[in-house]
Amino acid sequence: MEIIHISAECYPVAKAGGLGDVVGALPKYQNKLGHVAKVVMPMYRTKFLYSNEWELVHEGGQYLGLKWFHYSVIKEKTNKLGFDLFLVDINGLLDREKIYGYDDDSERFTAFQIAVCDWLSKWQHLPDVIHVHDHQAGLIPFMIKYCYAFAHLGQIPTLFTIHNGQYQGWMGWDRSHYIPAYDSWKWGLLDWKNNINPMACAVRCAWKVNTVSQSYMEELRYNANGLEDLFEYEKGKCTGILNGIDTEVWDPATDEYIAKNYSVETVEKGKRKNKKELCKQFNLDPEKPLFTFVGRLVGEKAADILPDAISSSVYQHHGNCNFLILGSGEPVVETQLEIVKQQLSGYVSTFIGYSESLSHLIYAGADFLLMPSRIEPCGLNQMYALRYGTVPIVRNVGGLRDTVVDFGDWQGFGIRFNEASVWDVTYSVGRAIDLYYNRKDRFHEIREFMMNIDHSWDSSAQQYISLYQSLK
Ligand code: ADP
Ligand code: GLC
Repeated sequence: MEIIHISAECYPVAKAGGLGDVVGALPKYQNKLGHVAKVVMPMYRTKFLYSNEWELVHEGGQYLGLKWFHYSVIKEKTNKLGFDLFLVDINGLLDREKIYGYDDDSERFTAFQIAVCDWLSKWQHLPDVIHVHDHQAGLIPFMIKYCYAFAHLGQIPTLFTIHNGQYQGWMGWDRSHYIPAYDSWKWGLLDWKNNINPMACAVRCAWKVNTVSQSYMEELRYNANGLEDLFEYEKGKCTGILNGIDTEVWDPATDEYIAKNYSVETVEKGKRKNKKELCKQFNLDPEKPLFTFVGRLVGEKAADILPDAISSSVYQHHGNCNFLILGSGEPVVETQLEIVKQQLSGYVSTFIGYSESLSHLIYAGADFLLMPSRIEPCGLNQMYALRYGTVPIVRNVGGLRDTVVDFGDWQGFGIRFNEASVWDVTYSVGRAIDLYYNRKDRFHEIREFMMNIDHSWDSSAQQYISLYQSLK
């Protein structure tokens, strides 16, 4: 089959979170299965752009409302990512340093989607499936079905994957002229509570919809940032497919970002070395259990409870634990973490910002990884932690529930708790110290067990292929 993935992120080209990891890996694994998967994304000003060679494959123009824009499509020359990668360049709109967070994001991503549809409609040979990811590509199933200019594409099956239902891409109806002329009777497909809602529109218009874990699919029916009724109504076309991880990028035996490579056989020694390095860099004590957090400092991840949960844990457990936080996000949380770091210097450290290399060193050097998320569609960090022999301590939600089994349950290996609260985190930190850190034999056994769990994309990539094949 020929599959076109359309996404705002793709690792290593541009990544803000797990969406990038997934779109950088899934197509590669689909190609390994004998299919032809390609990725189309915006051209941002990233390091990857400037350090690789590109060829021009198409130039065109379209309107965004009354404004004519010119776009070009470039292709990476060497297929180094394991799939064909196309970047859409729209001068002045997409070519920025960051992926998101601009006032004109609606214009940027609507123009991107129009350009992609326009380019695809020039293809002689059409793909078998168009696979769109998150709201930034969510208008495409509507556009190819109902916009006159793209009528030629109308019969191509579409799959919409929801990586995060919280972000829906709303825009006011005053921007409806951005969408190329369409059958006006269909306006209701774009609307949700008097706004244009690309996520709702994609759920209605895509041939099928999936989320990145089964539990999250069920949760959306009662917690979907206002779209609960829609998910209840459309449940027949929705499924959950658990994400995998790219085991070539995330492999402690070959990872170039870490201080010492290791495998299951050498895990104790390897982790000790990495922990030592990490503790040296952050002024922490390598003899104490190291609890870490990697991620966006936002409400969804319950990052706001971290400052209190950390101080409470340090005091409750008599200073017998260290914490290291890597992340950026809400300024209030960033500031509170900095304050805790100063108050509990030697016990707590932080790196406020984004660092791909440090994230790898943390998975390798930490003893425990905390994920108290309020919402977690899948979560990749816990799977990276497992692969690096780090015990995940997670809230019982979404993909975390589907990938982490509590030590108290059959074949359990991690720690799970119910509430995104200071108390639950503090209590779980205590459990981690008692269950694992103070029982070295058990800790070693569990590390080996976790590292052998298979979360590679092999099985999920095949599940996507089966889902495409069912699109009729
Ligand atoms: P989400 O996509 O909701 O942020 P995921 O768990 O799916 O959560 O994926 C997060 C990805 O982003 C992981 O690869 C994680 O290592 C990475 N990441 C998040 N924050 C940072 C950061 N500050 N520095 C480096 N990597 C980060
Ligand atoms: C989103 C979700 C995260 C998921 C990722 C990749 O960003 O928040 O849980 O793992 O997408 O699907």
